Amino acid sequence: MRIGLIGGSGLYEIEGLETTKEIAVTTPYGQPSAVYKIGTLGAEEIVFLSRHGTHHSIPPQKINYRANIWGFKHLGIERIISVNAAGGINKNLTPGDIVLLDQIIDMTYGARESTFYDKDKVVHIDFTNPYCSELRDLLINASQAINVPVKTSGAYVCTNGPRLETAEEIRFFSLIGADVVGMTAMPEAALARELEICFSGISVVTNPAAGIFKEKLTVTEVIETMKKSTDRIKSLIKEAVINIPLSRNCPCKDALKDAEL
Ligand code: HPA
Repeated sequence: MRIGLIGGSGLYEIEGLETTKEIAVTTPYGQPSAVYKIGTLGAEEIVFLSRHGTHHSIPPQKINYRANIWGFKHLGIERIISVNAAGGINKNLTPGDIVLLDQIIDMTYGARESTFYDKDKVVHIDFTNPYCSELRDLLINASQAINVPVKTSGAYVCTNGPRLETAEEIRFFSLIGADVVGMTAMPEAALARELEICFSGISVVTNPAAGIFKEKLTVTEVIETMKKSTDRIKSLIKEAVINIPLSRNCPCKDALKDAEL
């Protein structure tokens, strides 16, 4: 049973993940962000990819999301857990909080290559619920089992970046229902759905978003908070993957059914 793990800012590798092999995948869409590291976490096999490259050299708007997701599919991955750093918009969130995402608002639309179906096929995947509920439930159960508190739902607004937001943009995002803001959840989640891969998003709140509580945001606080949260994230994923059922019982595996014209 193999599961994919995408690490974002501050999470370039998973300590305790015993890498047994590294695989460089070439895709029809170009190069993925890095080599895929195959390893074991506890008894489970994990395939890890660093979203921004091994040395964080790829900015969010330049990430080859299609190559990254296609590479996982090529390696036979049916489920991906994707970790990202995010700014907290919801005032109940504080740095260090872990949010298991259940909704997305996409503000990158049109600015990134966001589909595998832009040539000879017309496909409209259902995206009502962008994240796999089975994977999210597993993570919720894991958090209870090992006593690592998480927020069990949250809406992520994805901006194109690389600049951070204005205070008024964040006020607007708050009004339209966003809980956290980041730059990478899209088109990652939609591309996984297009390849019928279960996809789960975990945000680590690394800072209050612009204009929430304070004046200036720094990249240092993002990376530092993410690093401090790595152990909890790792324990959560380790516990969740132990309980992943062999076969999938969610709609993700049939995403292309009734989606093609
Ligand atoms: N805004 C956008 N992306 C982010 C933030 C933020 O405040 N923090 C971490 N990633």
